[in-house]
Amino acid sequence: MSKLEVKDIKIELTKNPKEKPDQNSLGFGKLFTDHMFEMDWNENEGWHNPRIVEFANLSLSPANATLHYGQAVFEGMKAYIANGDAVLFRPWENFKRINKSAERMVLPTVDEEFALAALTELLKIDKDWIPTAEGTSLYVRPFMFGTDEFLGVKPNSNVKFMIILSPSGAYFKGGLEPNKIFVEDEYVRAVRGGTGFAKAAGNYAGSFLGQNKAAKLGYAQTLWLDGVEQKYVEEVGAMNIFFKIDGKYVTPELNGSILPGITRDSIIQLLKSNGENVEERKISIDELYDAADNGKLEEVFGSGTAAVVSPVGELFDGKKKIVVNNFETGKGTKAIYNQLTGIQLGKVEDKFGWIYKVEK
Ligand code: PLP
Ligand code: COI
Repeated sequence: MSKLEVKDIKIELTKNPKEKPDQNSLGFGKLFTDHMFEMDWNENEGWHNPRIVEFANLSLSPANATLHYGQAVFEGMKAYIANGDAVLFRPWENFKRINKSAERMVLPTVDEEFALAALTELLKIDKDWIPTAEGTSLYVRPFMFGTDEFLGVKPNSNVKFMIILSPSGAYFKGGLEPNKIFVEDEYVRAVRGGTGFAKAAGNYAGSFLGQNKAAKLGYAQTLWLDGVEQKYVEEVGAMNIFFKIDGKYVTPELNGSILPGITRDSIIQLLKSNGENVEERKISIDELYDAADNGKLEEVFGSGTAAVVSPVGELFDGKKKIVVNNFETGKGTKAIYNQLTGIQLGKVEDKFGWIYKVEK
């Protein structure tokens, strides 16, 4: 099996380019560009037939094994126009992570360098789709799933890797407005030894019931507790979570059931380089309630690619309510949001070498 190179990518441009959408009403993940990247894998040939083709529906057998058993993983990152260049934020980390997710789900890994090169080619073709209005970006969704036509319960022997692109606006309508979060103590998102650290499709399906429960009670997201003792904070919705307690930033340590967020890692590095105190450790829900009672819970925010930073204004576990920072976005939250989005948009110096230029 030879190593794939950019010259192996077959390109078939669309004959029917779509009209570009109004940048002020994009929503999130609803619209897609003209093209997509696709390649296939099987045990004999490895990854083969890399191609950039028109964005179009797939034809799948009703016996497609992934529809039944969920052997699928995905990634999410954003492309921006920064000072006239199309750029990505730490894309290496996303391809590293999709491989970690793939290994957990017994899917084949991709050559990370080739995957980034393929995305680069796709972005060069669909560059004009990268929106530039404030708060917008081109959301990049690489994903992988089995394509066997077989109902036996076993890992797929045929797999597809694809990348699609979605011009998107803010993930949450309110932007940096604080959200109300429901502390979930019945359902869990992930368990010890499970798939929580992977971006596996089924993790998200498993979270919908908790999400619906929160929504019915008027809450935007779920605060997930650990799956063993249901005592320690893990994530908020599909984001990592940070607390500012008594001047220190605290975030749950990576324990196998938490997704190792790239935004989380970037924020930790930025806060430390700003001279802030950052702790990665277990945080019990009781510690949060105590900190709130003692006036020490200063700020809470979620972190993830889609929203970047999302402030939490209220936590409620069905009995006791915590209002954080008078339901206002905290200073620390705003500052880290501005610093991170500043780097992403080329307005703040990229000291860490996080920005990847699509065209050098
Ligand atoms: N946690 C979960 C469950 C996620 O799906 C995501 C989103 O990707 C995150 C955290 C945040 O990760 P990142 O910052 O890499 O987007
Ligand atoms: C994130 O980027 O923070 C996400 O959780 C992405 C989501 C659409 C799965």
